[in-house]
Parts: sequence; C-alpha cells; structure tokens
Amino acid sequence: MRIPGARSFRGRFVVPGDKSISHRVAILGGMAEGETRIQNFSSAADCASTLSCLAALGVDIRRDGSTVVIHGKGLGALQAPSVPLDAGNSGSTLRMLAGVLAGRPFRSVLTGDASLQRRPVERVAAPLREMGARLTSTDGKPPLTIEGAALRGLTYNLPVASAQVKTAVLLAGLQAQGRTTVTEPGASRDHTERLLPLFGAAVERDGLTAHLNGPQALRGASLQVPGGADSAAFLVVAGLILRDSEVRIDGVLLNPARTAFIEVLRAMGGDVRTGVDGTEPERIGWIEARSSNLHGTDVPPALVPGLIDEVPALAAAACYAQGTFRVTGAAELRVKESDRIAALVEGLGRMGADIAERPDGLEIRGGRDLKGAAVRAFDDHRIAMSLAIAALGAAGETEIEGAECASVSFPEFYDFLAQGARR
Ligand code: S3P
Repeated sequence: MRIPGARSFRGRFVVPGDKSISHRVAILGGMAEGETRIQNFSSAADCASTLSCLAALGVDIRRDGSTVVIHGKGLGALQAPSVPLDAGNSGSTLRMLAGVLAGRPFRSVLTGDASLQRRPVERVAAPLREMGARLTSTDGKPPLTIEGAALRGLTYNLPVASAQVKTAVLLAGLQAQGRTTVTEPGASRDHTERLLPLFGAAVERDGLTAHLNGPQALRGASLQVPGGADSAAFLVVAGLILRDSEVRIDGVLLNPARTAFIEVLRAMGGDVRTGVDGTEPERIGWIEARSSNLHGTDVPPALVPGLIDEVPALAAAACYAQGTFRVTGAAELRVKESDRIAALVEGLGRMGADIAERPDGLEIRGGRDLKGAAVRAFDDHRIAMSLAIAALGAAGETEIEGAECASVSFPEFYDFLAQGARR
C-alpha cells in the first residue's frame, strides 16, 4: 500500500461497530437462551473469528451485513467442537472463549494465526485452573487445550490490568458454584460488566472490583453497537496533525474507559470536542477534531490501561507535536499483535521521527519533518494504521508492507483515508 502525503484531512465519518463490544455481545448471545439481535456488528475480521468459533460450538448464528441474529439455546446446548477453534488474529476471541469453555463438560482446543500463537495465554489459564478446569498451553502460548469441569467461584487479583482476562474469569464465574470476585490493578474496559445486566445477569461493581454469584443463566438481548473508539482515534489524529483539517465522527462509543486518548490529545493542545447522545448500556455520541498546534506530554502508567490500543495513534500524533511525548508503564504493548514498541520505533524512525524505545514505553521528540519511507506493518492492524496516518503528514510517499492487515479491526480504513485526504 502506498500512502502519499496530504495537504489536509476533512470529513464526517461513521466508523464500524466497536470490536470489543461486538465480541462480547456475540459470546453472551451464544451463552444465552432466546434471541440476541445485534445491529452495527463490527466489520472487523477479529469479530468474524468470534462468530465462526461460536458456530463451531453449535450456536445458530445468522449474519446479514452488520446485523447478526443468534438463536441461543443456553450454555447446555454448546457442543464439543470437532476441530480446533481458530481465533485467527484475535486475542479477545481466544481468551474470552476460554472462560466459557472452562465450564463446559467437553474438551476443546483454541488456537489462532502465527501472531496469536506467539501471545501469552497463561494469564487466562491460571485463574481458570484455580476454578477447577484443566487447561494446557503450549509453552505458555496457544494452542490451548481446555477440559471443562464443574467450576467453583474464585477471588482473583489480576497481576496485570486486562479486560480479556477479567471477562474470562467472569464468564467462568457465571457457570461456577459460589461467588466470583475479580480485582484489577488498573481500570481496563468494562463492557462485560455493563452488558451482563442486559442479558439478565446480576453483577456488582465496586471500584476496581467486580463480583457475581454463580450459577446464573443468561437470556437473549438486543443491542445496537456504537462505533469503535479505537478506530475513531486514527481519524481524530489525522484531523489534528494536518493543516486546515476538520473531522467529525458520529455514533461513536464514548465509554470513559475507552476515551482516555481524547484526554491525552487535549493535554497535547488538541482541539477535540465530544457530545453525548445516549448512555445505556454504553455511552454513545460524537467527536470533532480540528487542526491544532500539538505539544508533547507525559502519559503516566495509571492512564495506560484506558488507552492501550490507542498508543500507536498517539505516537503518530506525537511525531507532529513540539517537545517530548513519553509513555511509561506500557510493557503490555510488547505482547499485543506485534511488539508495538519495537514496531513503532522502526516504522516512525524510518520516516525520520526522533523516537526512542524504553523497556515499558517510548519517547518521541516531535517536530521533525517526516518523509515517506518503506515501512513494515508487522502483521499488526494498529501499526499499519498508525504508519498510514503518520504518512499523511510526511513529504512524499510511504510504502507500507502488509498494510492490508488493517482489516483485522477496521476494513474500511483506507477508503476513509482516501475520502478524507485532500492533496
Ligand atoms: C480488549 C482488551 C485489551 C485490548 C484488546 C481488546 C478487550 O487487551 O488490547 O484490543 O476487548 O477486552 P488486554 O485485555 O489483553 O489488555
């Protein structure tokens, strides 16, 4: 993919349904009894992986464009899969389904593509073992074999903030005898806690802790999924870094556990406005961003769980900000779809950015003129999109090897880029 520099970036966009919410509604619908109707289901390849794994477990799923209808028959109707469940590139699919399968009375194997087979799964296997299931990973990585069992409730303190692990333990807790309590060291996204009541389950929340009593059965629910906040972040950054630019994104998720990137962009001097149109079960509204003279900022570890997926977009913005931008406490970035710290340092560095790698983050001294270069996406959708946004402000053309992996979360991304860029 070749991305030429642009003069400005303008437009009104509606981004596809949020990936994190789409995964969860599909999984909860597959566990529930009755119909679950999902509108604006994410177009991401990752969410299609969740649907195909559920189908392999015997769930009746019909998809027509962005509408997904699940005829749930309850957890008891899930069947032993005849082949390994392929989560593709999706860590969320693999880790969250592990929580469901831990309580089912059969053996299943969860696996994924080459990138996913390099990612840690012991973080999810460990608490599920404590609840009574048998899980065997391959040197701490997928394939993950699960022999489900009768589970008991667990009080678990997550060593690292992770919404995927928190969700897996809660989904296992729904099937367990007794009370399950999960406490995180920092606030990760809370969609599971917000969605469970919609499916008829009782969950209590107290700061960084969530509790539920098991067993509890779910009933089907209907939901219109708000646009993805992580996808919106790339377009927002494009609107800020180029001259004479303005973007508006409607129908987008504004859950406070997902909008910390907006706070950081504002702290960098970004003219970003938001408005809320609805709140139940998830906050939805609009974001507007205009060309701004950005400056660097420090992103402290406490903010990191709330913007872990947006660091690549923020790094692109930081290249166009005066002064130093620093992220620390973000070692988790090294175990995402790629080592995102190393990948950003290579890609943005090749374009001329002054960017330095830290064990748990990165430091960018912005304000240097970037120039088009040959860069690599490392099979990581967010690296591809970050480099593409940085390329818009660069002189000349950037060639991104493996750019098509953006479809893992945002298949429409390059079309939106072409629509918004003025040359
Ligand atoms: C997600 C949680 C985060 C995030 C991922 C989606 C989720 O991962 O990076 O893109 O939907 O729960 P971790 O839970 O591993 O931090």
